[in-house]
Amino acid sequence: MLYEHLGVNEKGHLTIGGLDATALAEEFGAPLYVLDEDRVRANCRRYTQAMGASMPAGSQPLFAGKALCFKGLYPVLKEEGMGADVVSPGEIYTALAGGFPPEQLYFHGNNKTDEDIQYALDQGVGHFIVDNPLELAQLDHFAGERGKRQKVLLRVTPGIDPHTLQAINTGRIDCQFGVPIETGQAAAFVAKALTMEHLEGEGFHSHIGSQIFEAEPFCDAVDILLDFAQGLRETLGFTAQVLNLGGGFGVRYQEQDPQVDIPGNIRALAEHLEAGCKEKGYPLPRILLEPGRSIVADAGVTLYRVGGVKTIEGYRSYVTVNGGMTDNPRYALYRSAYTVLAAEHMGEESDGVYTVAGRCCESGDMVQEEVALPPLKRGDILAVCTTGAYNHSMASCY
Ligand code: LLP
Repeated sequence: MLYEHLGVNEKGHLTIGGLDATALAEEFGAPLYVLDEDRVRANCRRYTQAMGASMPAGSQPLFAGKALCFKGLYPVLKEEGMGADVVSPGEIYTALAGGFPPEQLYFHGNNKTDEDIQYALDQGVGHFIVDNPLELAQLDHFAGERGKRQKVLLRVTPGIDPHTLQAINTGRIDCQFGVPIETGQAAAFVAKALTMEHLEGEGFHSHIGSQIFEAEPFCDAVDILLDFAQGLRETLGFTAQVLNLGGGFGVRYQEQDPQVDIPGNIRALAEHLEAGCKEKGYPLPRILLEPGRSIVADAGVTLYRVGGVKTIEGYRSYVTVNGGMTDNPRYALYRSAYTVLAAEHMGEESDGVYTVAGRCCESGDMVQEEVALPPLKRGDILAVCTTGAYNHSMASCY
């Protein structure tokens, strides 16, 4: 099995957190997103414990709500000692409706509208992660109108390419998020921020990409950020209290994918940071990380009901399910790999390779291709694993 919270019961059915997947589909209907809360909690603890043990006091993981956002998740995150990164007023609203403290929210986005900025200020969102100089000026203006001094982090791009998919790669210089260090624009961005009366600069943010399996690209980002910070300490007298290194640790979608040692990577990152600060004589900043995928992806399974099985003679066989790109557009967008299981036929021999197709009138509406499956009939349940991240949100719920 891909993960230890998945299993097979005496009926030969897939279980998720000990519950029979087929029974869940019967009870709640399918398609169905299933999320194992215990797994989410365990994933949070890998971060909170490792960061608590190895990073400066006040360091914290922030859950990236873009990966998955619904009201019931926020009490769990709060109990687990996570902060939260939010990217839209909808995410702010949802987090607050789930009882999450506004001062623990970090508001992201490369195009926060005037309405977004004012809503976030009025809700008492603790920290803005400012993407660009225009946003800076607008935020200063609206904070001033309210007689506030708003805490901000400035998003900069260190120019790291962690070798992930182009579409999910955000740390390169040529990208629509943040301000690049290499061109000198980030230094000007900081200088401008320091002139703003109603903003309080806490430090810097960078996000280098997603599905990263080791600490090395994060360590490279730390080197670049520390050089940058050190330069500004000398020229502008500004010392960053906080370095937010973004999200990005990867998960296993298929058996052949590597297992990421998150606590080990966090320790390596902490040591690297400490050594870098010591060498430069830079005061150790608090560290924030923004894991999304590695908190919720493997906790999620999507259950579909099979509608048909069809072989195009001489070409291929299709299994159609009663969902698809409307609940998971990742295959259509990125050709993302998944593990697909026949929930009632676990352990049965495969009789061929199938394309699992959705039900939209779109030839690109696929869930997965080349999946070995046992003989299936209409009404059977197919389980697609590792769908907890970027499925519900990307089903136009961002
Ligand atoms: N922080 C920032 C600023 C981000 O842009 C992201 C993801 C994260 C944190 C969380 O990264 P994670 O730990 O989840 O890798 N839709 C794509 C993923 C896009 C990631 C966007 N940014 C996918 O389905 O693979």
